[in-house]
Amino acid sequence: MGTGHARNILAGKIPRLRLAAVCDIVPQKMESFPADVKRFNTSAELIASSDVDAVLVATPHYAHTTVGIEALQGGKHLLVEKPISVHKADAQRLIAAHTDKSLVFSAMFNQRTDCYYRKVRQLIKDGELGDLVRVNWVVTNWFRPQFYYDSGGWRATWKGEGGGVLLNQCPHNLDLLQWLCGMPVRMRAFCNLGKRHNIEVEDEVTAYFEYANGATGLFVTATGEAPGANRLEICGDRGRLVVENAKIIFQRTEMSVKRFTEESRDMFSAPELWTIEVPPARGGGGQHNEILTNFTDAILDGVPLIAPAEEGINSVELANAMLLSSMCGETIELPMDAARYEAHLMKLIESSSFEKQVQESAGTGDLSSSFNTNP
Ligand SMILES: NC(=O)c1ccc[n+]([C@@H]2O[C@H](COP(=O)([O-])OP(=O)(O)OC[C@H]3O[C@@H](n4cnc5c(N)ncnc54)[C@H](O)[C@@H]3O)[C@@H](O)[C@H]2O)c1
Repeated sequence: MGTGHARNILAGKIPRLRLAAVCDIVPQKMESFPADVKRFNTSAELIASSDVDAVLVATPHYAHTTVGIEALQGGKHLLVEKPISVHKADAQRLIAAHTDKSLVFSAMFNQRTDCYYRKVRQLIKDGELGDLVRVNWVVTNWFRPQFYYDSGGWRATWKGEGGGVLLNQCPHNLDLLQWLCGMPVRMRAFCNLGKRHNIEVEDEVTAYFEYANGATGLFVTATGEAPGANRLEICGDRGRLVVENAKIIFQRTEMSVKRFTEESRDMFSAPELWTIEVPPARGGGGQHNEILTNFTDAILDGVPLIAPAEEGINSVELANAMLLSSMCGETIELPMDAARYEAHLMKLIESSSFEKQVQESAGTGDLSSSFNTNP
């Protein structure tokens, strides 16, 4: 992903952003960069370089926290890939390092630029849906073959990645879920570990959650199901909207469902509806390059961030709560106990006996087809 971002910067796709340097602990990964791009073998050297104003961290997840803290403490603006950290306690450490508020600190939640989800957020913010009643998101079109999991030593292990589909593919969906509907207050989930792949982490999840106002939620995801679906359904007091197949269909009730429930004297009646296909938001939709452009504009012109990194703790917390709930067989109250989850994860790492078969040279494929950006 880091190479992809670097190539986009080199191609001039982000106005006013220049690729000054790259860093990888595997020097061969930097061989193809032009000679005027400095190369470093450690993040500390890159961060210390006076040629560098801002750092984009696209390492495996655990290093988002460590390298991110180094960058902020080194006085650099920071854009961190998703998830911002593997677990909530690390996310708190990373956020706590952002003491110098003149430094811009953003996260690569590129799906926040999507025209469909932006429109849904607008409808919710404008009160068009009324109070939240229920949200269901079935996002099972993150299919990955075993070959994907075998392509990198860090992938799909507790030690290297800290989770599976919830930590790798779903940070986008979990971020959008909290961006659209807010954070729930409790979580009960069922995560199947290595159900359809030879991996030790989760590749199938069903989570049920509740919000403070009594609304309920369901989140279902998998990487071993085909064909997958991506259907987001949000029910409010003024109707239900569905985002699926690049369409937003809003069935709006003529009046408040709560009021109708209280006032109707016809036993089998239901509120009248209008069915509307809502056009997606105009402009934007630029995904990763739009986040990079926004990051640059925030540094140079002070424009507001699309995805402030501090908000990234919420998707980490949702993923952690799902895993903890499933493995401990309990309902988890949110905000969750960060130290408890960290201790739980450390135990999983210590007790792991999984032997990963890695085919480092096998990792080929078109990165852009992995983004799953269209609803
Ligand atoms: N926003 C998106 O759409 C998107 C898509 C794919 C990946 N990602 C994120 O990007 C990150 C990287 O994923 P990937 O698929 O590119 O992994 P990858 O394994 O292909 O690449 C990671 C690179 O980081 C290097 N590296 C490891 N530790 C390092 C360190 N401490 N300092 C410098 N370099 C280091 C590795 O040598 C490797 O070249 C992940 O956190 C992932 O979630 C985001």
